[in-house]
Amino acid sequence: MTPQATTSARVISMTNQVGGSGKSTSAVNLGAQLAEFGLTTLIVDADDQCDASVALGYEYPDQLDDQKTIYHCLTQRGTKLAEAIVPALCGPHEDESSRAIENLYLVLGSGEMENAEQYLTPLTGREMWLKNLLEPVKNDYDVIIVDCPGSLGIVVIGAILASDDVIACIKPGYKELRGLTRIEQKIELVKDTFGANGAHADLTGVLLVDVPTHRSQGAVWDDGKKMAQEAYGDLVLPPVRRSTKIPESYAHQKPLIYFDRAGEATADYLAVAKALGFKRQQ
Ligand SMILES: Nc1ncnc2c1ncn2[C@@H]1O[C@H](COP(=O)(O)OP(=O)(O)OP(=O)(O)O)[C@@H](O)[C@H]1O
Ligand SMILES: [Mg+2]
Repeated sequence: MTPQATTSARVISMTNQVGGSGKSTSAVNLGAQLAEFGLTTLIVDADDQCDASVALGYEYPDQLDDQKTIYHCLTQRGTKLAEAIVPALCGPHEDESSRAIENLYLVLGSGEMENAEQYLTPLTGREMWLKNLLEPVKNDYDVIIVDCPGSLGIVVIGAILASDDVIACIKPGYKELRGLTRIEQKIELVKDTFGANGAHADLTGVLLVDVPTHRSQGAVWDDGKKMAQEAYGDLVLPPVRRSTKIPESYAHQKPLIYFDRAGEATADYLAVAKALGFKRQQ
């Protein structure tokens, strides 16, 4: 199956140097929503934890026979990104009931990405790693979403450099909001340093995830959103409410939209997609 798109992809990176802030959950579930809209969507799993790969059916991406991963593309000259692209699945890939999700594709992650920083450090042009890999496939997709690791190292700088949009995913709280300053500084630095190489991404969204819905859970929906809006105004995207369906859907290796179609968090990711300017294709 060859992916189809009409123009060059919009590249969106999901970032935050803080671990466990909803990057992978958001990459997968926003991506699944965009694919459901009819947009040809590619998710790039750039994190050595491989959560995006797991969530989309591939629990052990390094153990698939004759299958390249993002790490091969990074480290083996001549290996093209297209060789690491697989159909995103609904359900574990070894299950008979598992099926390919229409319009949704995945650059397979790899546990070996834990060596990526070390590999890239001595290389000239190291920050261009992802931009160079994406260039040949950009016309095949409408949207490319990069699931970044929880750091601000070279892997993530490369993702920012390759992006049109950077979205910071955060769990609501004062400490978490303060942490965004570092991401903003990094984005500015990338633009200043690599503008001539095409770096132009801004922080275009702040996405609050795992937002409590009951007073007993601590700061509630409105409090978290208000605090973020005071600091980031219109950049604050519609928040994603806390939902047990999120870890459950991950455990079942199914995007939310196929696991809990009528659920609150599913509706929240739909709202996020719309707020980013995406709509259902005719
Ligand atoms: N809206 C939500 N409701 C409930 N749990 C959530 C929600 N969003 C995320 N989580 C949970 O929070 C945890 C961290 O989410 P996720 O893996 O997406 O973060 P991450 O930023 O990708 O983490 P890492 O930096 O480790 O890659 C997961 O266990 C996930 O199931
Ligand atoms: Mg993650």
